[in-house]
Amino acid sequence: MEVVIVPDAAAGGELIASAIGRLLTEKPDALLGVATGSTPVPVYRALAAKVSSGEVDASRARVCQLDEYVGLPPGHPESYRSVVLRQVVEPLGVDPAAFMGPDGAAEDVRAACLAYDEALAAAGGVDLQLLGIGSDGHIGFNEPCSSLSSRTRIKTLTERTRQDNARFFDGDIEQVPHHVITQGIGTILDARHLVLLATGEGKAEAVAQTVEGPLAAVVPASALQLHPHATVVVDEAAAAGLKHADYFRHTYANKPSWQGI
Ligand code: GLP
Repeated sequence: MEVVIVPDAAAGGELIASAIGRLLTEKPDALLGVATGSTPVPVYRALAAKVSSGEVDASRARVCQLDEYVGLPPGHPESYRSVVLRQVVEPLGVDPAAFMGPDGAAEDVRAACLAYDEALAAAGGVDLQLLGIGSDGHIGFNEPCSSLSSRTRIKTLTERTRQDNARFFDGDIEQVPHHVITQGIGTILDARHLVLLATGEGKAEAVAQTVEGPLAAVVPASALQLHPHATVVVDEAAAAGLKHADYFRHTYANKPSWQGI
């Protein structure tokens, strides 16, 4: 995998937004897999600025969710569907009909999971999947010890993840659902390009385990080691635990600029 160390979150957002812009130039109807949480916000801001300035046209782009809470009422402001509509679909001018996600309100959750995997495949697969990382090393909502070949399915959140996400629910962990639908690790690995962004010291340990630790289900993000085109973008704080940081800096500094990430 390629590791790019950037000075701060804004620089990471700009780098990834440029890569998405480049992809949309080559493939205007690319299917973009998007993540939620605080980390990807600088990417969406930078991309929205490029759309506003006319540098990027996202009007034909397609967008899909990585995961979703189970059981929130439709239209709940913290459902990931609402978040992605607010942060990505609307600001980028993506056609809402070209936006898909798993149905967290479905009566038959298992059928909804299967239907989502089938819909992703029928759409031709994800071109670029943006990922954040949980403080416990999860991607999507694949908590530690998730099968590395899992498909979209229901998962139960750890208390640590519910606590981490309580800030989106008035700081009240009781409001954070216990269950979620998440693309499986195998589903995520089907995307053609994986781009994981991690910022802040709270992610340093998870990043070190992901990049330099063994491939292990206990660190779900380490599955990126299996992917032929995985890019990990980290700020200085999140890079603090990397033993090979100097090598990563050297490699990126000497990379031909036409290559992109
Ligand atoms: C949630 C999401 C993940 C995200 C993680 C980290 O668990 N399901 O996709 O990566 O939060 O969020 P943050 O970027 O806010 O730290």
